[in-house]
Amino acid sequence: MNTKNLFIKTYGCQMNVYDSDRMADVLADRGYQQTDDMSTADMILINTCHIREKASEKLFSELGRIKPLKENRAEDKDPLIIAIAGCVAQAEGEEIKRRSPIVDIVFGPQTYHRLPEMLERAERAALKKGNPRKSRKGVFDLEFPTESKFDFLPETKKKQGASSFVSIQEGCDKFCTFCCVPYTRGAELSRPAADIIAETQNLTNLDAREIILLGQNVNAYHGKGLNGNEWNLTDLIRGVAKLPQVERIRYTTSHPRDMTDDLLVLHGSEPKLMPYLHLPVQSGSDRILQTMNRKHTAKHYLSIIETLKKHRPDIALSSDFIVGFPGETDADFRATMELVEAVGYAQAYSFTYSVRPGTPGALMDDQIPEEVKSERLYELQTLLKAQQLRHNKSMIGRTLPILIEKPGREAGQMIGRTPYNQSVYFDYPSNSLGQTVDVAITDAGLNSLAGHYAADLGKETPIAC
Ligand code: SAH
Ligand code: SF4
Ligand code: F3S
Repeated sequence: MNTKNLFIKTYGCQMNVYDSDRMADVLADRGYQQTDDMSTADMILINTCHIREKASEKLFSELGRIKPLKENRAEDKDPLIIAIAGCVAQAEGEEIKRRSPIVDIVFGPQTYHRLPEMLERAERAALKKGNPRKSRKGVFDLEFPTESKFDFLPETKKKQGASSFVSIQEGCDKFCTFCCVPYTRGAELSRPAADIIAETQNLTNLDAREIILLGQNVNAYHGKGLNGNEWNLTDLIRGVAKLPQVERIRYTTSHPRDMTDDLLVLHGSEPKLMPYLHLPVQSGSDRILQTMNRKHTAKHYLSIIETLKKHRPDIALSSDFIVGFPGETDADFRATMELVEAVGYAQAYSFTYSVRPGTPGALMDDQIPEEVKSERLYELQTLLKAQQLRHNKSMIGRTLPILIEKPGREAGQMIGRTPYNQSVYFDYPSNSLGQTVDVAITDAGLNSLAGHYAADLGKETPIAC
């Protein structure tokens, strides 16, 4: 089999990162090896994100950069194939083709198991019509198929880093009024536990030590369990924790509506479940939460956190916020600031509301002027950053178990992760990837911590969790 070069560019969330890796697995079976150099590629695959306007626009500027490469290869007998995957492809497939005739394949997040067949069709079409300026029909697959792509994907053979993702749940049925995900990813679907556990086993055989269970609504998981009964996320985490090579488990992203009591309790009883939770709230105003169709109140959100802290007092919390949703008054925004003060976040993502065509939010009156959105975002981010720095500084003087992930930029330096999901820089031998070692934290900034291997200080190994 001839080897060809594949260049992948991924935008968007961790689901997209996971999907890109799976597409690389599918294409590896067809002789494609990944390259970091776009100019040597035989296939350029862009996995796109539609969540905010700026994220979508990145695709079209990237396509502008690719155009000369495609044109240079117009006369080659091996044409350069341009494929657009992901959420922009799903939402704006026709528009992509209209604005950019150099694109050969357009497909959504639920059909990438059909990539080999799409590729064959695209190669045939590209060979027939060498002229890239001529508009071709291209290969489209924007279906939401009845079959699950997971049943057709090959097992990965790629050596893993210390931490690996496993998709356990796809799509979303919640239809928050600002969000395009239910339209781009389709309906909620949970994978059977047996598949998830087999995939996890394979990843740990390939050296992964931390498993991050992924889904747009990961805590809405309700898949077929190992015993034939339906399992929820708590059952699944318990199942994954039984694998001896799995040392750490995380899950993301959760919805407050699906934080069941058994899951809250599990945070206190399952030592492999890390003390960090990303639980998006979006707003602290009940009025806005209602028009967002979140179906929870600020009080309910705060009560989840209170219960969680009862079971796991040291849990670090993270969230997503949207400011400037239609109709958001100063008082609504104050309510968001008050919620942030009440929780005290370890980390957070915050955005100004971006109108997504086709969502109910786009049609709402009282859209907020951009300068008001920006002012509110600045104020919110100032508070969130101060909380993040305070949280990081609270680690100074503690000794924490650090999972080593990669070498740092300086010689002898390694980067690892605390149970609370912070990056830590410290000196340690470089053949230690995937090991967990005790590190005494000596310094902290906004985005990372610094420390020393605890044995250097003659310390015992008190583990925080
Ligand atoms: N499923 C997750 C979120 C997925 S999208 C959840 O329910 O929380 C990730 C984040 O992007 C959201 O939490 C939200 O904060 C942000 N987001 C989604 N749509 C947006 C929009 N139209 N404008 C601005 N931010 C948006
Ligand atoms: Fe989007 Fe809401 Fe679904 Fe999250 S729960 S993916 S924000 S619709
Ligand atoms: Fe973006 Fe799609 Fe993820 S819109 S955030 S890549 S689900």
